[in-house]
Amino acid sequence: MIEGRGLHLAREGRTVIAALDLVLDAGERLFVLGPSGAGKTTLLHALLGFVPLAAGTLAVFGEARRCERDFIPLRGPLGLLFQDPGDQLFGPTVAEDVAFGPLNLGLAPAQAAARAEATLAALDIAHLAARPVHALSGGEQRLAALAGVLAMAPRVLLLDEPTNGLDADASARVLAALAQTGLPMVVASHDPACIEALATRVLELPARPSA
Ligand SMILES: Nc1ncnc2c1ncn2[C@@H]1O[C@H](COP(=O)(O)OP(=O)(O)OP(=O)(O)O)[C@@H](O)[C@H]1O
Ligand SMILES: [Mg+2]
Repeated sequence: MIEGRGLHLAREGRTVIAALDLVLDAGERLFVLGPSGAGKTTLLHALLGFVPLAAGTLAVFGEARRCERDFIPLRGPLGLLFQDPGDQLFGPTVAEDVAFGPLNLGLAPAQAAARAEATLAALDIAHLAARPVHALSGGEQRLAALAGVLAMAPRVLLLDEPTNGLDADASARVLAALAQTGLPMVVASHDPACIEALATRVLELPARPSA
């Protein structure tokens, strides 16, 4: 599904990831581990073309992805949950926010609303549907953002700290919902429960790149 070879990523001219191979096969849940600042978020963003490759090659769904035009069709099929839900949610209400992706995919308004409702129910946050996104707690925001990603019916999930800020119950619900999708995923996480529950393979990033 994803094949990155010799990936080299930089932020403002400073090397963050050097000579990294990242391969995700169907059925895999690959966890990217490493200390804060190791480049986990940078790597997830590079898979969608938000951070350009300084070197290396990237193929997604069997096709080379080099320029902006190559990445545009991935925004949807590669469902990214941002580390900060504030970067994801734009509202106005949770129901409208979650329905926005399906509407963009071309679903009729009633179908998009039904998909949003079902996704919120699956994450046990149907009660938040009418709430403005800015009036949610941090954990509620993460759940709403995840609902927005899942409502797009992605083929692969890219999850940046999906259980951050969640209580044990909400975290367990999220882990169950993610497992139930059956989707391949690349997950950045520091949460041992999340790794234990979902990881089929881990990729440890060094604190500093080797080159
Ligand atoms: N938008 C940005 N502009 C410049 N530098 C950035 C930017 N985002 C991240 N960096 C830098 O790139 C490096 C990797 O950051 P990144 O956010 O990918 O780390 P991370 O592994 O996700 O960390 P955390 O576990 O804290 O989320 C850090 O040194 C960070 O300061
Ligand atoms: Mg991060």
